[in-house]
Amino acid sequence: MTQEILVIGGDGDLALRKLYPAFFALEIAGQLDDVGCITGISRALRDKDSLLERMLPALKLLDGFSDEIWEKFKARIHCIQGDATDAQTLRVYHADLPEQYSGVIVYLAVPPKVFGGACRALRDAGLASENTRLVVEKPLGSSKATFSQVNQEMSDSFSEHQIYRIDHYLGKESVQNLLALRFANVMFGAIWGGNYIDHIQITVAEKVGLEGRKGFYNEIGALRDMVQNHLLQVVCLLAMEPPANRDPFMIRAEKLKVLKSLKPMTSEMIKRSTVRGQYIEGSVNGQVVPGYNDDLFDSNNSVDSEKSDTETYVAIRAEIDNWRWSGVPFYLRTGKRMNTRKTEILVQFKQPKHVIFGTNNSICPNQLRIQLQPDEGITLHFLRKQPGLEELTLEEAELNLTVPEARKKNNYDAYARLMVDVIKGDQTLFVSAQEVEASWEWIDQIIELWHSTDMKVKSYVAGTAGPVDAAVMIAQDDRQWSDLE
Ligand code: BG6
Repeated sequence: MTQEILVIGGDGDLALRKLYPAFFALEIAGQLDDVGCITGISRALRDKDSLLERMLPALKLLDGFSDEIWEKFKARIHCIQGDATDAQTLRVYHADLPEQYSGVIVYLAVPPKVFGGACRALRDAGLASENTRLVVEKPLGSSKATFSQVNQEMSDSFSEHQIYRIDHYLGKESVQNLLALRFANVMFGAIWGGNYIDHIQITVAEKVGLEGRKGFYNEIGALRDMVQNHLLQVVCLLAMEPPANRDPFMIRAEKLKVLKSLKPMTSEMIKRSTVRGQYIEGSVNGQVVPGYNDDLFDSNNSVDSEKSDTETYVAIRAEIDNWRWSGVPFYLRTGKRMNTRKTEILVQFKQPKHVIFGTNNSICPNQLRIQLQPDEGITLHFLRKQPGLEELTLEEAELNLTVPEARKKNNYDAYARLMVDVIKGDQTLFVSAQEVEASWEWIDQIIELWHSTDMKVKSYVAGTAGPVDAAVMIAQDDRQWSDLE
């Protein structure tokens, strides 16, 4: 009995850049044994050969690519030229399914405005039964209200346990490692919270700019693009209570409690606790790059030529109003066209309450640094005695918990990992509708306050660490951002 995979939007950017490479990586790893055909459907698809030709360059870049595996993979690929919102097209697909199949995994690799029509067509074609799983990903709305609308369109045909909402950050190895780190090590369990942790920083710095998504990005900005989903999901895994077991329902319920405990901003707090930034001309990787507005309004695109106030950088001082985290700020920052590409979590512990080492020894607090990108790594920073007979002097030391290079399995990118879970039917690393709703609720009120207080973007030079205002924001608390370089 095999699972069949149907990719709606089968020749689109997402399918070609992410999905087929993920499936191919699973083929290399021998993880597609329970999968039958992978069928791409799209109005523009000409034939199988042209689809194969278009997907091949990305597959060739994967470690372990071989002609033998390519032949095996090719045999799975099918394509349908047609409109996936038309039930008749899907009826033909349904009728052609092998007699022995255990279920269909439908990936909606199309914009959300197509979700409703596609879901209705799937239902009318008899493809919404219990053994169908529906996979979708952001953008899932641009506010709580618009999310509810998209979600309703899916829920009209599918139940919550059939819907797999991808946040690709949850497919990253180091993000998954947070659960192991926190709940498999008694030492972290004991000190995890406001009694011992001073604050937490989450940074997602990118060097890239708009990458061909000008109109889309200009509509949403950094807060909706990155914080509502990826950064808040990382916050959830860092802050959630230990679940009673690894049941997806239990884990998602604990994450939801974190989102619901995020302290709403007020008009007094908004200017102190958030910064909106936008890059201006600067230099990235030694090359001069235009500012955001010039990027946006070059001659080849249709975005309105009024100056845009969309943020390409955001920094937030978030608070979680519960017993464990009260008084522990979570500083979040993310931006495009920064000086480095780095995704990192920094857990900064408190100073010891009483210091016995004299004034010539400064005590720097313990830190746990979890680096997600570009390299993965976990280091614990602490102090020890300098060796020797001299007066006791402290020195900084680092405990490296990083998985050695030789043991890393590079083929498994986030999408491949998450697809394994969809095939298994494990929803643990997928985001529930309630989580998406709760995170939109928190994001919506920030956006409303930005509007009502007329908070404009602050400029930062491309290729730098972001606007000075972000450094000022954290300095108000006598703290500073971790170095980006
Ligand atoms: C996407 C955002 O969700 O995540 C992009 O839409 C961003 O703007 C990307 O560049 C970052 O993902 P990663 O895995 O490269 O950190």
